[in-house]
Amino acid sequence: MVLLFTTSFIILHNRSSFYCGEELVLWVKPKQKCGALVQTLLNCCICRHLLELLRRTALHGESNSVLLVGPRGAGKTMLLKSVLKELLKEKDVNKTLMQVHLNGLLQTDDKIALKEITRQLHLENVVGDKVFGSFAENLAFLLEALKKGDRSSSRPVLFLLDEFDLFVHHKNQTLLYNLFDVSQSAQAPIAVVGLTCRLDVLELLEKRVKSRFSHRQIHLLSGATFPDYVQRVQSKLWLPEQFPDQRFAHEWNNSVKALCEDKSVEDALQRHFNSSKDFRSLHVLLMLCLSRVTVAKPCIKPADVLEASRVCFADAKANMLHGLSILELCLIIAMKHLNDVYEGEPFNLQMVHNEFKKFLQRKSSTIYHFEPAVVMKAFEHLQQLELIRPLDSPGARTQREFQLMRLLLDTSQIMEALQKYPQCPTDVKQWAMSAFA
Ligand SMILES: Nc1ncnc2c1ncn2[C@@H]1O[C@H](COP(=O)(O)OP(=O)(O)OP(=O)(O)O)[C@@H](O)[C@H]1O
Ligand SMILES: [Mg+2]
Repeated sequence: MVLLFTTSFIILHNRSSFYCGEELVLWVKPKQKCGALVQTLLNCCICRHLLELLRRTALHGESNSVLLVGPRGAGKTMLLKSVLKELLKEKDVNKTLMQVHLNGLLQTDDKIALKEITRQLHLENVVGDKVFGSFAENLAFLLEALKKGDRSSSRPVLFLLDEFDLFVHHKNQTLLYNLFDVSQSAQAPIAVVGLTCRLDVLELLEKRVKSRFSHRQIHLLSGATFPDYVQRVQSKLWLPEQFPDQRFAHEWNNSVKALCEDKSVEDALQRHFNSSKDFRSLHVLLMLCLSRVTVAKPCIKPADVLEASRVCFADAKANMLHGLSILELCLIIAMKHLNDVYEGEPFNLQMVHNEFKKFLQRKSSTIYHFEPAVVMKAFEHLQQLELIRPLDSPGARTQREFQLMRLLLDTSQIMEALQKYPQCPTDVKQWAMSAFA
């Protein structure tokens, strides 16, 4: 379904009609090759729309601005790259079009952005030591310089702003204001393409910036269902028909098909699908599966998928517990008991130490005798590892033993870590499992 408004362009996914970005794979049969994939992408309406828009800037000097909005991993960058690749195939475009790639994570203020624009337009020599009164003056000079480079007409410039939402935090939104102002007032042929994952990005723009933006937005929405997701897995692993070793390709493809139909694999994939539908996490899972393929075992077995899935879902915090010293582990267990007894109320080092001492009194062994300073050090280490967090602000002047803390682990994480802790003493394990401290 395509909805066309006077000011904005929103394309929604519907399996029976158009599809976009992430939906691409749904339509591609596993046996189709990569080129066909890109071709399918380019055939879809968004690509054609974007391509046409950029082509108008490149060939006819028409200025444009557009925002590509979609969740992380929805394929914004991939879509733009494919469109650019297609656009640059045209000879006239390839000769004249200039590209400036900016990223909100790298160009954290407008001064850095301007330097980067100058560098990417190869105008460092032209600018030299010139001093400019304002940002607008500087940008106008750069665009003017491009005009003089080619006598007949100005060279079109494509500004691609990745992580667009971060640029709104720059002082007075000067860069955005000037780019949109140039694109709107036809001073020079430029196209501004912003990529962002924030749906409310327009709300972040200042009024004067917003009024200069064309309000053209392309939304990449994902409507993938679980069968589509499984289909995607299959198409990612599928070997093309022209694979040199035909026999191997045939066997491999059969094994992939059998794999995708396996019940346990389906359950693992369902878990991944529920937690994240994007391609990036799927790639990580499949890479882990593929890394287990060997000459002796030239196919992916369901057990590989389950193991890869386990690694993907491994809890980083529970893993960190494996590297703790026995004292630190004991303190964590004491905290767990305190949490159970006081129902999640914050605790301090003194309480934890008392809890630990209670455990020691029940044991006659002296192997767990630690000086208070050592216990304090261990406690601080746990804080450094962010396994516990102080409740007060860092400036608050409370004695360290009495500073209130909260445990950032839950019981299941602690119990899981204890099972795998190398050579965990039995009494410590029992203490952790007992309902009473
Ligand atoms: N429709 C698709 N078909 C095949 N692969 C895809 C599709 N969409 C995304 N991918 C893959 O997913 C990965 C992430 O895509 P991409 O970098 O384009 O996402 P993005 O929307 O730009 O994310 P971010 O907001 O994090 O920048 C890439 O490896 C890309 O190849
Ligand atoms: Mg991206």
